[in-house]
Amino acid sequence: MGVLKGKIAVVTGAGRGIGREICLSFAKQGAKIVVNDLGADRDGTSESKVADEVVKEIKELGSEAVANYDSVVTVEGGNNIFQTCIEAFGAMDILVNNAGILRDRTLYNMEESEWDGVINVHLKGHYNCSRPFVRYIRDSNRLNCRIINMSSVSGLYGSFGQTNYGAAKAGIAGFTRSLALEVAKYKCTVNTISPGAATRMTFDLIEAAGGKYDATDWTQGPEQIAPVVTWLCSDAADTVTSQIIHSQAGILGIMQQPAVIKSFTTEKLWTVEQLDKLMPELIEAKKHHDVEVSEKGAPKKI
Ligand SMILES: NC(=O)c1ccc[n+]([C@@H]2O[C@H](COP(=O)([O-])OP(=O)(O)OC[C@H]3O[C@@H](n4cnc5c(N)ncnc54)[C@H](O)[C@@H]3O)[C@@H](O)[C@H]2O)c1
Repeated sequence: MGVLKGKIAVVTGAGRGIGREICLSFAKQGAKIVVNDLGADRDGTSESKVADEVVKEIKELGSEAVANYDSVVTVEGGNNIFQTCIEAFGAMDILVNNAGILRDRTLYNMEESEWDGVINVHLKGHYNCSRPFVRYIRDSNRLNCRIINMSSVSGLYGSFGQTNYGAAKAGIAGFTRSLALEVAKYKCTVNTISPGAATRMTFDLIEAAGGKYDATDWTQGPEQIAPVVTWLCSDAADTVTSQIIHSQAGILGIMQQPAVIKSFTTEKLWTVEQLDKLMPELIEAKKHHDVEVSEKGAPKKI
């Protein structure tokens, strides 16, 4: 019996890459799925019906699926994706906000269309697709739902040439923390994934680093993220919410969240002279903290 038996899921941007693998894993675990994909090029332009192929694969695995080709960029698109699910399956339990594009450029040269395009697919896409779902959760008092959001080390660490993508991906981690508080009363969990995998989004980066994608190596491929997302959507993860789970290069980890690691207080307004002494102490504490975290976070072989 699958861990998602009877569950109904929507996965956006699921026509290829990480989203497709999540769909196949969900199908093997018994979920019914709406496969959303605009069928865009890597920069978000053009359209195709790549979702159909994934629907076919899901059916071959013995589960049910329907395709949806709406863009996550608009409120209307988000509503249509939700409506497709309700019309096909009568309910909804899981939303995976996965659709994504890249328009890399340093900020010196970044055009407004490159900024807006990336923010709209990633960050606004999360709003557009999540809002109809959370309204449904509230209005029908549907319990134990799941929302999975896709962030990136680009936003969580920083990445040259990706201020648009990094801002969106950091925003998605913030979106997750706030939404997790809002839907907690319905026992809905909201978690962020920090994925890394060889897909068309990263093939050129892998090649530029002198590597070559080996499709037989699971530690490189997008299939490594799917079981992690599946587990987070299962009953075993009932109490896991507001977390950032890292899945990349065969490593499974949990990320730290922003927190104050050292602080001072005083009765009078800070003086700049005081800060000459206190700020270096804070920076030093942060350096020690970073070293400690990187040592503790090194992968443990199992
Ligand atoms: N591959 C990685 O290493 C990596 C790293 C960090 C984050 N991510 C994130 O993971 C997610 C999946 O990426 P991937 O690597 O599988 O990329 P991918 O390009 O293989 O898949 C993304 C899919 O999203 C679809 N899409 C694009 N714009 C859309 C829109 N407006 N509406 C609906 N669908 C749309 C595309 O057609 C495509 O099929 C993205 O959010 C990406 O930013 C990936």
